[in-house]
Amino acid sequence: MKADVLLGLQWGDEGKGKVVDVLTPKYDVIARFQGGPNAGHSLEFGNIKHVLHIIPSGVFHPDKVNIIGNGVVIDPITFAKEIVGLKKLMVNPEKSILVSKKAHLILPTHRILDKAQEFAKGDAKIGSTQRGIGPVYTDKTARNGIRVGDILSPNFADKYRSLTKLHIESISHITGFQFDLKEFEAGWFEGIEVLKQFTLIDSEYEINHYLSQKKSVLAEGAQGTLLDVDFGSYPFVTSSNTICAGACTGLGIAPSKIGKVFGIVKAYCTRVGSGPFPTELFDATGEDLRKKGNEFGSTTGRPRRCGWLDLPALKYSIMINGVTDIFLTKSDVLSGFETIKVCTAYKINGQLSDRMPFETSCSIEPIYTEMPGWNDDITKIKDFNSLPTALKNYIAFIEKETGVPVTIVSVGPNRDETIFR
Ligand code: GDP
Ligand code: IMO
Ligand code: MG
Repeated sequence: MKADVLLGLQWGDEGKGKVVDVLTPKYDVIARFQGGPNAGHSLEFGNIKHVLHIIPSGVFHPDKVNIIGNGVVIDPITFAKEIVGLKKLMVNPEKSILVSKKAHLILPTHRILDKAQEFAKGDAKIGSTQRGIGPVYTDKTARNGIRVGDILSPNFADKYRSLTKLHIESISHITGFQFDLKEFEAGWFEGIEVLKQFTLIDSEYEINHYLSQKKSVLAEGAQGTLLDVDFGSYPFVTSSNTICAGACTGLGIAPSKIGKVFGIVKAYCTRVGSGPFPTELFDATGEDLRKKGNEFGSTTGRPRRCGWLDLPALKYSIMINGVTDIFLTKSDVLSGFETIKVCTAYKINGQLSDRMPFETSCSIEPIYTEMPGWNDDITKIKDFNSLPTALKNYIAFIEKETGVPVTIVSVGPNRDETIFR
């Protein structure tokens, strides 16, 4: 059996959480492979609206296994909060969530360092979620990190103290930055106790065992391809590999064991934080998209920047990930726009190009194709053929340009508002 991978093809917040929840009944195991509490994956069903940060989005289906893989970074404070939230919703998380011993821990000082580094960057700041993501992945690659499995070691407190000391020393060089470690420390150690109540596993063995037993596995990505540390708009990226290859390193799955690659695409584009965004709208249309799409960050509440669909960027993401299916989300948000624009090429220094430029700070003029919009409320539509012709034309255009079929159309945030083709 091969593992399917589901990931974002834009700058995150494409609707991954919703779609994973919808697909979970088809799978035995859902496994998050990278990122951490910078992610906010929203799900809606019945009267429940919930946002997950570290925990896989299959958790609301009681008979499924949810694995937090080695590529994920875990803040015990956020983890413990998420567990409390799930218990209120009658989920039994200790039974269904397994945690990789090799996942790295976000320390209170990682969060403080993240804030301090952003403070020091001033106007050049990344716009990070300030959850400690950059610093924890830095420690991982610098071979200083502390992993989940270490919490069972008698030396754990010593490891914590010495890494914290190193961080405080480094923060002290940032002039004018104030912090209070005590604010986080007690909650952090309480979170460690919560983590100890979970089954800690060698997730690479576990996942490969499931595959060999013909169990189906869905790998859930966080962020989006254009925030990937190698292929995103560097340096305005996150600090992990958000792409399909990240599922191999973040779970221990061989490339030959990857099956379908599901690319989640919002019907337009959004971005939170700094960095280039060629199709960004600064006018009333951008404001309309933000309002109608409720485009405010699931993790930080920041307003998301909004713009039209960007095909050169989408084709790039499809190439990097080997996407087999596009799942188009939030198409309902485009209802009511008289004209819909799609960027099909960039003009850079007077030259037409369909490639992502190396220098992301250069000025990019998007070249648009315009298409007629539609007015119908599509949120109650259940079959593809009943969608307005203008939306079907929009989808056909995306398929023709990318060469990838659109096999799911999401028409609302709720589980039920999903059309399978
Ligand atoms: P993720 O990070 O990719 O899981 O996406 P987020 O949850 O951060 O952001 C997506 C937002 O859009 C959430 O508020 C979802 O509830 C919502 N959403 C998902 N799919 C749809 C859709 O098809 N239509 C509408 N209107 N909202 C959607
Ligand atoms: P999900 O999984 C949208 C953005 C931040 C910032 C940059 C770096 O919900 O799609 P970081 O905290 O990772 O160092 O921030 O990446 N970012 C996201 N944007 N959705 C996310 O996750 C994001 N996770 C990080 O806004 O620009
Ligand atoms: Mg999100």
